[in-house]
Amino acid sequence: MSNIIEDELLSSTVIKNPNILDFDYIPEELVHRDDQLKYLAQMFKPLLSNVSQNVIIKGPIGTGKSVIAKKFCISLTNLARKQGNIIEYVHINCRKRTTDSMTLLGILNHFDSRFPDRGFSVQEMLQVLKKQLIRKNTQILIILDEVDSLLKKSGSNLIYNLTRFSDESSLEKTPVSLLLISQKDILPLLDIAALSTFKRSNVLSLDKYTRDELFDIISQRVKLAFHTESVDLDSIDLISDIASEWGDARFAIELLWKAGIAADHQHVERVTPEHVRAAKAETYSIVTESKLKNLEKHQLLTLYAIAKRLKKDQTAYVNTGKAEKTYILTCEEYEEKPRTHTMFWNYLKEIENAGFINIKPSSKGHIGTTQLISLPDIPAEIVREKVEKLLK
Ligand SMILES: Nc1ncnc2c1ncn2[C@@H]1O[C@H](COP(=O)(O)OP(=O)(O)OP(=O)(O)O)[C@@H](O)[C@H]1O
Ligand SMILES: [Mg+2]
Repeated sequence: MSNIIEDELLSSTVIKNPNILDFDYIPEELVHRDDQLKYLAQMFKPLLSNVSQNVIIKGPIGTGKSVIAKKFCISLTNLARKQGNIIEYVHINCRKRTTDSMTLLGILNHFDSRFPDRGFSVQEMLQVLKKQLIRKNTQILIILDEVDSLLKKSGSNLIYNLTRFSDESSLEKTPVSLLLISQKDILPLLDIAALSTFKRSNVLSLDKYTRDELFDIISQRVKLAFHTESVDLDSIDLISDIASEWGDARFAIELLWKAGIAADHQHVERVTPEHVRAAKAETYSIVTESKLKNLEKHQLLTLYAIAKRLKKDQTAYVNTGKAEKTYILTCEEYEEKPRTHTMFWNYLKEIENAGFINIKPSSKGHIGTTQLISLPDIPAEIVREKVEKLLK
């Protein structure tokens, strides 16, 4: 028995350095983001002369917003130190800290990890922060990451208060700068007072990565994290193709990591496209599961009917008439009263909007209501299984 365990634990792996595939890992070089790092350097240059600056980074999921901000801050504080200047930075995730006091507490913990998490009002904490900055004679750059969560829950008061810090003469030498990060445009979430400090010119806008850029990002991770020659070029190509639909580097790295694990489970020495496909199916299945929980009972029954039909008929499409018949049978099976034809159409539209199915006209120019339904991303069998579990 213990031999089986030991063999598995000691078995060889394609992944040389797993922590390099971790989301918090910051690579030495950020691929295809030179211009953006240069732009940040231009915007924050005044900090080296003790003048505060406020900048916004925005861009879709996985476009490198957080990693660029961290990378930039590390370089900035290092250079400042060499010049005998102290700039500190603190990175706050506002999705985890959605109120003014939780955010401030995160900032204060940077200076004093034992600062009590209760008993101080926001105004008092702002005073403590001021004292800390003066006492340590340091300026600070505060990264408020995923700041839309804070703004939606608590408004822009805190941001306004922090931008006002530098106006006070006692804080002349210890200004506070802000770097706000969000997927969406946050200007509409700022009230007038805060808005005036965030002019449009201070926005760094990141685009989705292209297929070729993703290819280079993945190649870099392969080189750093995997044993030489253990990942097929075809596999890197396939990962780039799959992830290019979203332009999301995090998703691409996750696929690479999962493909590596899949190869390890089979005790093979190379990561092949088949491992990438398995990784894709697994990732989709996790996403699917969490999205399915948002569907109501009859939407689930509709989706279940479609998946069952597609699996049984072994076809790419099922027409809406057949789907409805299967839906009615499924309702009987689950002792539910089938809803009207119109309601059924609503369910179809809703699950299409949620991204589970595609609906297209059965043939060009053909008049009538017959439409074809397909499942674009996930095998019918996986959908059927997962919905069945939820229906129980
Ligand atoms: N240009 C790049 N070169 C190398 N790795 C990158 C690059 N851009 C992003 N990554 C990696 O991709 C992953 C996602 O990046 P990051 O977390 O910065 O995205 P994000 O834009 O902050 O996404 P979100 O909106 O979900 O917070 C990280 O592991 C990061 O290290
Ligand atoms: Mg981020």
